[in-house]
Amino acid sequence: MQGGFETRPYQGRAGGGRGGAIKYLGIDVGTGGTRAVLIGEDGRMIGSGASEHIPFASPRPGWAEQDPEDWWKASKLAVAQALRDAGVGGSEVGCVGFSGQMHGAVLLDGDGEIVRPALIWCDQRTGAQARRLAESIGTDRIIRLTCNPPLTNFTLTKWLWVRESEPALWERVRHLLLPKDYVRFRLTGELCTDVADASGTLMLDVAARRWSAEMLRAAEIDPELLPALHESSEICGRVSAEGAHATGLDQGTAVVAGAGDQAAGAVGMGVVRPGTVSVTIGTSGVAFAATDRPDLDPQGRMHTFCHAVPGRWHIMGVTQAAGLSLRWFRDRFGAGPEGNGDPYERLTAEANTAPAGAGGIFWLPYLMGERTPHCDPAARAALVGLDASHTRAHILRAMLEGVAFSLKDSFTIFDEIHVPVRRIRLGGGGARSPLWRRIQADVYGQAVELLETEEGAAFGAAILAGVAAGNWSSVEQACEQAVHVSERIEPDPETAARMASNYLIYRRLYPALREAFDPAGATGS
Ligand code: XUL
Repeated sequence: MQGGFETRPYQGRAGGGRGGAIKYLGIDVGTGGTRAVLIGEDGRMIGSGASEHIPFASPRPGWAEQDPEDWWKASKLAVAQALRDAGVGGSEVGCVGFSGQMHGAVLLDGDGEIVRPALIWCDQRTGAQARRLAESIGTDRIIRLTCNPPLTNFTLTKWLWVRESEPALWERVRHLLLPKDYVRFRLTGELCTDVADASGTLMLDVAARRWSAEMLRAAEIDPELLPALHESSEICGRVSAEGAHATGLDQGTAVVAGAGDQAAGAVGMGVVRPGTVSVTIGTSGVAFAATDRPDLDPQGRMHTFCHAVPGRWHIMGVTQAAGLSLRWFRDRFGAGPEGNGDPYERLTAEANTAPAGAGGIFWLPYLMGERTPHCDPAARAALVGLDASHTRAHILRAMLEGVAFSLKDSFTIFDEIHVPVRRIRLGGGGARSPLWRRIQADVYGQAVELLETEEGAAFGAAILAGVAAGNWSSVEQACEQAVHVSERIEPDPETAARMASNYLIYRRLYPALREAFDPAGATGS
């Protein structure tokens, strides 16, 4: 294996010249499922496939684990389905790009076998490890080395938890990978990652775009455990014979490094230059701004990561349980009277019967602790302001508004640290629901844009593959050609004014409840 400190170009070029138009494949290994999309040389989507994952296991409160084998199974199905959907054979695919849920700890032994289930991004068991890193290395020094403070989500804390709590398993570990990189390993046999995804490990010198030797020394992590590091649009491997057999792709097809889901999603939404910001609601919710320097929130409430574009960074705020709020409601209380149609559409239609402001109810979406702005794994969700007249519809509307308020917290920080927000683009479930996008325009108090292709991260991964193959000269050029705004939604002035005053009330709730969430103050990091 080739642990290394610098990004390294792979020796080789993307496919092409096989006759006929070349297609590019993007694979996004998400939390709920894996999605694959195929695009043509003009950047238009020509086919897609998807397969759900087994929901993450939570053997104890705050724990979140998935089996990497399940991601590989889902990827095989999604790719095969995308090829069928587009009616193309594997030989027409010129290059493959990857995107995936970030921060997860995949641990492999020397034979490439999975040592234990992966601790994924929303796992919150590592408060003690994050606290100890802060004490022993110092939060300021960690921010200086990695641009980010020690938080439970970051992969290093998960490695440390396994090292401390399961030493016999840790002894067997020879390779540390991120989720999408495990799927790439199965497809190509290569152990590698990209700077955008590696930014979320707390091991990357984000400003210099290489592994931090000093951080590795301080945390006593052997650099040999780490995968080779690449810029997102660099080719880092080729589909192996086994990978080809499993997916229907051709052996030898080039595979590009890709990016964590947020950076890849931003590429898919054309958020590659300062001034344009995206808000994507998946399981988590993310407000994401591209920057041309590694800009920092001095209080560490936002993440500063490498972008999937060379020489660019991004700063982003994360709501842990954004789409998860609605999914939790659906799983626990049902999607309402049985009927046809998507359960989320039924839930948002029900929410739409309640007035803006949800009759005075507020939802604090801290079902899995919270990152931005509180960085508090002990935070808990709360429904505040209920009275006997309220219905399910009020609660559902409060949930949609509460998630938007939580994302608005990121805009408040963008403002404080002078990150420009000239355009807002919506992605994920929050863009698909007409009610949720209207709520977002009103809560952010600014017009929001929808895009023609809302495949987000998988689309971004396919664009990165096209750039690596030379179909476009840069990620920016690719976005200009492939990403198009389909609709702009202006805020309603009256509702926006109401949401602005409700946001001030929302901001007072977490400080008022903080102590009740964690009376002993034992679990905060
Ligand atoms: C980003 C983050 C999530 C996960 C899951 O920091 O934690 O976006 O990648 O999608």
